[in-house]
Amino acid sequence: MKEQIAARAGKMLSPSFMRPQLITWKSSRLLDASFTPDSVFARVSGISLGMFDDAVALAAKVKEQFAGLTIHLHLFPRIIPEDGVPDEVWAQVDARREALVSALESAGVKLSGNSRPRDGQFVIDVIVGELGEKLFLGAHVHGPERHPLAGALPRIALPDDAPSRAYLKMEQALIWAGLDGPKALPGKTALELGCSPGGATLALLRRGMNVVGVDTADLDPRVVAEGEKRPGSLKHLRVAAGDLFNEELPRPIHVLVSDMNIAPPIMLRTIEGVQSRVRARVLILTLKINDRRIEQQIPRFMKQIEMFAPFPVRATQLPANRAEFCVVAGEFMHRMAAH
Ligand SMILES: C[S@@+](CC[C@H](N)C(=O)[O-])C[C@H]1O[C@@H](n2cnc3c(N)ncnc32)[C@H](O)[C@@H]1O
Repeated sequence: MKEQIAARAGKMLSPSFMRPQLITWKSSRLLDASFTPDSVFARVSGISLGMFDDAVALAAKVKEQFAGLTIHLHLFPRIIPEDGVPDEVWAQVDARREALVSALESAGVKLSGNSRPRDGQFVIDVIVGELGEKLFLGAHVHGPERHPLAGALPRIALPDDAPSRAYLKMEQALIWAGLDGPKALPGKTALELGCSPGGATLALLRRGMNVVGVDTADLDPRVVAEGEKRPGSLKHLRVAAGDLFNEELPRPIHVLVSDMNIAPPIMLRTIEGVQSRVRARVLILTLKINDRRIEQQIPRFMKQIEMFAPFPVRATQLPANRAEFCVVAGEFMHRMAAH
């Protein structure tokens, strides 16, 4: 993140206070809460309002900053393990919520009762660190490019029968993309390039989608069994994505997914070829950062994707992503996601 921001906004922003998974910056310009550093590696960003010993002091700052406005509260842990935040950590964070809400309300702050913020609404980000660490307070303005959940963290665990962590990545991508509404996916078709052993396929099947998976390797029997519950919902094409014949491809394809473990330049050429034939309305792509040069090429990959993908194209490193990041393209928010 530091390299990416140095390259884009190095004259304006310089790194300041740091903790694992939290970076603050000094800015040479006055920024407001709508500012975003536009980095794939910054899952949540906003203006920093300081560190506080307790809920009462934090509430006083919020009152001073946002007098008269209805605020959405996001409370989340600072440390996010790749396999998800353990239940006991969420329990510790949730335990602080009640005290925080009551301090904010006593200070006269109006809190929104909605489960997700509305576009244009101020969100306060309260970050809980290790025991004894001060509460960190930030704020941002919600918008379609921002994650709707506190800390960009869906509370989903990897089911015992998922054959790979890609289940978690897919669920996190769907929530980030706004595709988790009840009417968004059932009955629609996904084409997944690099589907074996089938974690993501399992997540898509359980969301009511039909899946055509492409991979020379096998699908896990548990995923095959899930497909058999709804006959015709799962088809496995045992070929490399570059060797797909037109007649093998079902139409229409609503969502084109790729999790192929190949270098991004080769992967993008393959996806472009497939997308030119299927014209999916949404793309969900995992790009592998297999060496440091790939990191520097991210802006170039994004431009390349914009040439063939539906608009808008957005990228983030999901909590479950390791050396990789996720790109979602398409007008999903307005057309497909009905919450
Ligand atoms: C990270 S795994 C995919 C995990 C999978 N999405 C899941 O949900 O379990 C990468 C897969 O990409 C496949 N792959 C690599 N190159 C491919 C290509 N050209 N066409 C199709 N699949 C490919 C590999 O065989 C491998 O199974």
